[in-house]
Amino acid sequence: MEVIQSVETLRERLERAGRVAFVPTMGNLHEGHLSLMRLARKHGDCVVASIFVNRLQFGPNEDFDRYPRTFEADREKLEREGVDVLFAPTEQEMYATPQVYRVQPPPVGDELDGQFRPGFFHGVCTVVLKLFNIVQPDIAVFGKKDRQQLKIVRGMVQQFNLPIQIVPGETVRADDGLALSSRNNYLTPVERTEAPRLYRMLREIADAIAGGRTDYANLEAAGRAELARHGWKVDYIAVRNGIGLRIPHPEGFDHPNLLIVLGAATLGATRLIDNVDVTPKDGED
Ligand code: PAF
Repeated sequence: MEVIQSVETLRERLERAGRVAFVPTMGNLHEGHLSLMRLARKHGDCVVASIFVNRLQFGPNEDFDRYPRTFEADREKLEREGVDVLFAPTEQEMYATPQVYRVQPPPVGDELDGQFRPGFFHGVCTVVLKLFNIVQPDIAVFGKKDRQQLKIVRGMVQQFNLPIQIVPGETVRADDGLALSSRNNYLTPVERTEAPRLYRMLREIADAIAGGRTDYANLEAAGRAELARHGWKVDYIAVRNGIGLRIPHPEGFDHPNLLIVLGAATLGATRLIDNVDVTPKDGED
């Protein structure tokens, strides 16, 4: 695997690389990321991963400085996975001058995670657009764990006519259901035992909807209360239509197959997000 830091060298390396499949990451790689690399391999001749902790998507009180940076371990994992190129730019390489041009995400970027992390999707879209322009991949893989991000990036690709196919990767979970995330490393042992409750809660709501319930607001409120009772600070528990992440019709006119349940809540000092499909399915709506 070649590790490349500069845009120029990367461009030269990829000139005759064939079909490029790209997986952007912020490092601290776990099995969830590695499953995205394997998916990328199925779609491309040359798999490119990037590691860049993007300052633009962190709020002033968020964990940019303490975000785990584990470059050597990450490099080894990618090497073992057979990734062809690791693009690991410095901050200077990505933001040589202050990034005054920014992508304005759609209104849904101010909802759910965007409501609680103002500016987050501006930062994500801006860096993803830059990475897409640098790598110029044929396909790019994004995990369903960050469902809102996946949908917003997909919309950006469509509206800016980028010739890139966005491929969704399934969420990888620990045996107890907790979605793998770099932020799980922050959990204390006691919090780690409590953490799967978020997934269980989302699954319970999804199963209730699959069983015919359409009183989404009640289900959301009960989910929030249950988590709060166990010490969580809940940002949102939300039933949304997978298409455009719009709020479902209160009288249950949305087909349950299209609905997803998303949640974000903080346990101790760690904010976790997760989501489930009402009807589990491969791929993306
Ligand atoms: O999902 C992430 O790790 C980041 O948001 C991404 C897509 C690499 C952009 O910094």
